[in-house]
Order: sequence, then C-alpha cells, then structure tokens
Amino acid sequence: MVKILTGSTKVLILNNGLVCPDCQNELSSYFINTILDVADIISMNGYYNDEFDEYNQELVNEFNMPKMNNPKVISQEKNKVKAKINPYKIYKKISSKVIGQDEQIKNIISIIIRNNMTDNAYVKSNIFLIGGTGNGKSETIKQIAKELDIPYVIEDSSKYTQEGYVGDSVQDAVIKLINEAKDLKRAERGIIIFDEIDKKTDNGDRSNVATTSVQDSLLKMLEGTNIHTNIGTINTEHITFILIGACEAAFTARKKRLTGKGKIGFSNIEKNKTNEYSNPNFIPQDLVEAGFKSEFVGRIDYIQEFKPMDKDMAIRIINESKISIFNFYLSELKKYKVNVVMNRDEVVESIASRAVQLGTGVRGIRQIVVEMFKNIFSKVIISDASAQEEYECIIDKDIVYDNSKFKLCKRKRQN
Ligand SMILES: Nc1ncnc2c1ncn2[C@@H]1O[C@H](COP(=O)(O)OP(=O)(O)OP(=O)(O)O)[C@@H](O)[C@H]1O
Ligand SMILES: [Mg+2]
Repeated sequence: MVKILTGSTKVLILNNGLVCPDCQNELSSYFINTILDVADIISMNGYYNDEFDEYNQELVNEFNMPKMNNPKVISQEKNKVKAKINPYKIYKKISSKVIGQDEQIKNIISIIIRNNMTDNAYVKSNIFLIGGTGNGKSETIKQIAKELDIPYVIEDSSKYTQEGYVGDSVQDAVIKLINEAKDLKRAERGIIIFDEIDKKTDNGDRSNVATTSVQDSLLKMLEGTNIHTNIGTINTEHITFILIGACEAAFTARKKRLTGKGKIGFSNIEKNKTNEYSNPNFIPQDLVEAGFKSEFVGRIDYIQEFKPMDKDMAIRIINESKISIFNFYLSELKKYKVNVVMNRDEVVESIASRAVQLGTGVRGIRQIVVEMFKNIFSKVIISDASAQEEYECIIDKDIVYDNSKFKLCKRKRQN
C-alpha cells in the first residue's frame, strides 16, 4: 500500500528514488500529481546516517509513522549533491515572476524533478512547449533549472543539419551540456532545449537534410543513447529534452480538429467515438499534422501550451510580476529622486493594450516601457542640477504613445 500524499506529508528521497516513509515502496509514478503539495523533500543520498535518523525520528513524532530501521536504499551510487528542495516554494517563486502560466510551471517543474530523481529510464519524459513568441517559455525553463541547480543549454534548432553535412549535428548540444555542467554525471541529468524546432518540419521547400533528417538524428538521443565525446561517453537516457516551437501549423491542425473541418486521421465514426478528437489541448496528432514525424512525436510525453498574452494578463504582468520592467523603472527613477505622479491604473491599462497590439508577447511590454521612460531618464541624468535635487514627474496615459508627454518639476523642499 502506498500512502496518498497530503499537504503536510514528507517523503524521503533515497538516492534518486522516492520512498514512502510508511511502507518504503517506491513512489515515483504516484508522485507526479502530488509533488507540489509535499511540504519537504529530503535527499538522503542513499546513506543511512545521522541525518536520516534525525529525520526518521521527526516523522515518528509528527506523523506517528513507524520507525524505519532498515530504509530501502534504491541505489548505492554516490551522489555528490545533497539537496534539500521544496518544489512548492520553487513553484511559488517562479509563478511570482512568470505570471499567468501557473499550470504550465507546475507541470514542467514536476516533470523535471521526476526525470531528475528517477533511476528508471522508462519513467523519464520529454516535453514539447508550444506557443507564440515572448510568453515565458524560455524564462520558465531557465528559472526552473536555476532553482533546481540543473545544468541546461538552449539550442537554436535552425543551425542543425543531418549528421555529416555542413552545419552543426545534434550531438554538439550534448557536448555543450557537458561543458555547462563541468561534470559528465551532472550533465547526464541535465536539460537540453531545442528552440524553434518547428523549423525542422517538412515544409516542402527545403532539403530534408536540414529538416526532417534532423528529427531522425534526434530520435535516438530523445530515447537514450551513448554519445562518445573526447571528454568521455555520455548517456542521454536521463537528460530532459525540451522542444520548443511556435508551431502555427499545430494551432491550425487543432482548430480543424475541434471544428470538425479536418480529417486528421479520424474517420467520421471515430470522430464521434473518441474523446481525443474533442480534446481542447494539443494532442500528438496535431504535431504530426504540423509536419513532425510520428516517430519523433512518439518520443514526447507532454505537450504543454503556453497561453498567449491578453490585456488582462498584460496588466497583471505589469503590476504583479517580480520581474516587472515597469516597477523596475519606477524604482530606478526613485534612486534619482524622481517621484512619478500618475493615475497608475490608466497608464498600466494603456501599456497593456498597446503591448497586445504589438503581438510580440511580453517583450512588447518591455519595448513600450523602455521607450516611454527614455526621455525622462535622459533629462534627469543629464541635468545640471545638484544631486540633491528632488523631482516630481507628472505623466498620464498619453506618454505610452508619445514619450515627450511628461512634466518634470523640481520638488519644493519641505522644511
Ligand atoms: N508570463 C510572463 N510574466 C512575466 N514576464 C514574462 C512572461 N512571459 C515572458 N516574460 C518576459 O518576457 C521576455 C520574453 O520571454 P521568453 O524569453 O520566456 O519568451 P519565449 O516564450 O521563450 O519566446 P520565444 O518563442 O520568442 O523564444 C522575458 O524577459 C520574460 O521574462
Ligand atoms: Mg524562447
């Protein structure tokens, strides 16, 4: 019997295997859905030591669990990193920076943690992230990798060609990962991201040396293979591969599928029968329709869509994100003793509307904010006033479209 985990349950990780403190059964497959509710995870690195005893005693006291005298040690392999991680805290931290993609963040953290912890290569999953530009795909992965201290590389897929042809071969990505990790074993648990993978689909007007053959070269790597490098042999079976693409063709395929206007491999009878056909999320068949080979798609377990930024989301990003460029700029101005006076809601709403129109995702917000404060900064920095001067800067929503629309006044000293 495996205990169902609740918010306050703790779980032991014994050298990459997750063990129920109650019955000592391995948990990995159960863990995925509940991992973010778990208060604490302690890595014991497979060794029965003082720390383990202490933790075990804590479990006995707190949860009335039977004392474990003989903990199950899944693997005796030495793991140098003694990690104590809290997935829930990591999720909270990242979702306070990348706004409006909560489910996406949860899912990716769970998959990466599970991939990283398991010793079972069958359990490892590869991920496909799909969505338009500037909506947090790269940022999310970078943040997760940083928090979990996992080495990663982001590769632009466009430069790859079939092995033996001019251009990089996909194995070069693995070598880069080793360089990044500075350790072969660490690299074997790392993350390789192939960005713009949709450039590698069969679109008819390019040689398949640069397109579908690259998918072929990736097949073995995704599944797990030994790659011989001059630093040593690296096995890819535990590396998390993340494929990223805007994949407009997949959006079209999904739309056709949902509106019933396309065949997409389903007969009419099947259409009525299958839930898959009406699944609003992306399904593997959508990627196949978009030009990916079915063998390739078959090696991807999770297709995760990132939401496009609408106006409400843009407003939240500007106001709430811990990496909000708007808030950063306001606090920078404060350092120059400039107090910005505005109707904040109106200004923020105006930035948000314009950013959505630009169609470059969250990058649009940055573009607008940088431009709208440009003149204010230069006026304040290149001024002959003494450093003691205090300013009041009055702006309204018009500055979003015309950065000369501001009033900068010296503030009267209050004596
Ligand atoms: N949801 C979000 N909340 C807050 N900031 C965000 C969000 N999405 C993106 N950003 C910010 O916008 C910038 C671009 O994001 P990112 O690089 O993750 O885009 P992307 O989805 O990878 O786009 P592309 O497909 O063009 O590579 C980053 O500076 C990031 O911090
Ligand atoms: Mg990106």
